[in-house]
Amino acid sequence: MTARGLATAGLAALGLLGGCAPRRTPAAAPLSPPALKDAFRNTFLVGAALNSRVFSGADTADARLVEQQFNSISPENVLKWESVHPRPGAYDFGPADRYVAFGEQHGMFVIGHTLVWHNQTPRWVFEDADGKPVSRDTLIARMRDHILTVVGRYRGRVRGWDVVNEALNDDGSMRRTPWDTIVGDDYVALAFRFAHEADPGAELYYNDYSVENAAKRQGVVALIRRLQAEGVPVTGVGIQGHYRLDWPSPEQLDTTIAAFAALGVKVMITELDVDVLPSAFRQTGADVALHAAARPELNPWPAALPDSMQQALARRYATLFGVFVEHAGEISRVTFWGVTDAGSWKNNWPVPGRTNYPLLFDRQGRPKPAFDAVLRVAPQRGGSSRRQGSHG
Ligand code: G3I
Repeated sequence: MTARGLATAGLAALGLLGGCAPRRTPAAAPLSPPALKDAFRNTFLVGAALNSRVFSGADTADARLVEQQFNSISPENVLKWESVHPRPGAYDFGPADRYVAFGEQHGMFVIGHTLVWHNQTPRWVFEDADGKPVSRDTLIARMRDHILTVVGRYRGRVRGWDVVNEALNDDGSMRRTPWDTIVGDDYVALAFRFAHEADPGAELYYNDYSVENAAKRQGVVALIRRLQAEGVPVTGVGIQGHYRLDWPSPEQLDTTIAAFAALGVKVMITELDVDVLPSAFRQTGADVALHAAARPELNPWPAALPDSMQQALARRYATLFGVFVEHAGEISRVTFWGVTDAGSWKNNWPVPGRTNYPLLFDRQGRPKPAFDAVLRVAPQRGGSSRRQGSHG
């Protein structure tokens, strides 16, 4: 066969000659990665905190990732006092309504965060017209009005509320916030009672960070016991989970989950992320009032995380989820504080303008090695619990 004949045959064989070209099979939709929510379906809910871009339609890529991966959502900022109740008697529910609707549209367990906190609460709440601290009764009335209005609006739709957030110091004592100094320690019990009055069907949580440290853990245990002794309807304790590669130890985490579960309440990991950058402070935690100046050595990987650190993060997340799976009967939910590394608050805290990598999805929304490591621990993917030495 002539060279030209050969060429033609070849092309034909490849079916590239006009008219007889074989039908091109439509490019298979890129395989979506397995979903965290399915891998842990019979273990615990898996959630993510959403910023307003995700549920307002401004960030459809993250919205798709959330629909695909998670079965619970938390509001990063839109249900905080300054957002929904910026001025006396003036409520702005637009963003919060969109947040709740997004969750319902996708059959998610919708969380409310947070009703009573010392941050992101406008000064007017604690002051009279002359800027002086209001009376105990006035502040209690303002708290009650806020909780009945906000919880009442989403009755039966928001399934669980972080009623009080970060009321304790790191030594376990009551934090001297305006709530505590004006009302007194019983502001916590009052907040839970008002939330229960507004929605008797909602789960009600106390939420805090650094509770893996013994003194603060014991402070939480004492607080919950006090509330239970007073018949206050507290459903669960939220362990925020703003972790580092080296803190907390698996033993600290195990002890903390067991201590809270022993109180007969639900335990949740509510704001999980793992900071991989050099620490600007010695202490751990998430006190947003703390800040540190930017220094080049505190932002070592502005372009990309080295593979050795990707692997370290993967091992870290496998260890953490190993402990969570071990406590499957006690932990009802694990929520990440954000969706992808791009939107994480850890890019700006405690040092502004850093490039951090604390979550399971990178800045393009692609699963990281840590994502695969977490899936390998999942019971529904043949993961095993610690008893068989799966972690650490
Ligand atoms: O809304 C304003 C916007 O109008 C303004 O242009 C912009 C520029 O400064 O600031 C915007 O407010 C920011 C707000 O997030 C909404 O994006 C605040 O500056 C910023 O401080 C605030 O940060 C939030 C932080 O809580 C504040 O306390 C973070 O996004 C949020 O992730 C973080 O979440 C807390 C939990 O609620 C409780 N546990 C710790 C956790 C991390 O700090």
